[in-house]
Amino acid sequence: MEINKIPSHVGIIMDGNGRWATLRGKNRSYGHKKGSDNVDRIVSQAFDAGVKTLSLYAFSSENWSRPKEEVDELMRLLEKYFKKFIGKVLKNNVRLFVMGDLTALSDKLQKIIEDGMRASKDNVAHVLNIGVNYGGRQEIVNAVNKLIKSGREVTEKSISENLYTYEFGEPDLIIRTGGECRLSNFMLYQGAYSELYFTDVLWPDFDEKEFDKALENYSGRVRRFGKV
Ligand code: IPE
Ligand code: IPE
Ligand code: MG
Repeated sequence: MEINKIPSHVGIIMDGNGRWATLRGKNRSYGHKKGSDNVDRIVSQAFDAGVKTLSLYAFSSENWSRPKEEVDELMRLLEKYFKKFIGKVLKNNVRLFVMGDLTALSDKLQKIIEDGMRASKDNVAHVLNIGVNYGGRQEIVNAVNKLIKSGREVTEKSISENLYTYEFGEPDLIIRTGGECRLSNFMLYQGAYSELYFTDVLWPDFDEKEFDKALENYSGRVRRFGKV
């Protein structure tokens, strides 16, 4: 198979860090560190391939229920990642966006994220959209509440317009690593007609070749959107 159709918007549920570490006799935090080290190569591979928008699921609204040490480590890695990334995002004409309820994050992390989004808001080549304290249901509920408050009619279009990602369109392809075949609250509204690709490869092992396999697989899909 070859890659002859590039999805404009790709979502990735980056799963399997914990199991990757456990398999090596290490603690889960080690897996998260390796997982965060893997982000850059996949971002580069995707953007080089012509993907316009990449939406990465980094921390779900349910992930707060993990042990405190693990949550703390994930927050620390997010801080480190965003700080390091800001310089690169700007250089490469990439717009950084973070979707999720940011109010629950530390003031420090909120500020790093806001600075990154502000500094890159006029970049147009690509969008790197990262889900942090993100939940698809919460996003839909927020959108509907905004409409009720404003007195606007609730329609498919008006809900879409009030999702975090309205400007970036809907994912053409959603990839989940780590073997589970579920969405775990990721882009529920936007994903109504996304092509889904599940792979057993754990996120820290998901390299450029694996990403290309997902693109090849997508190239063979026929998207009917309910038509014949
Ligand atoms: C994905 O890896 C990262 C987050 C959900 C934050 P996991 O931590 O879920 O790894 P597994 O699924 O337990 O292996
Ligand atoms: C989904 O993975 C969330 C992220 C990848 C950030 P989880 O590991 O939290 O999902 P479940 O618990 O297996 O559904
Ligand atoms: Mg998991």
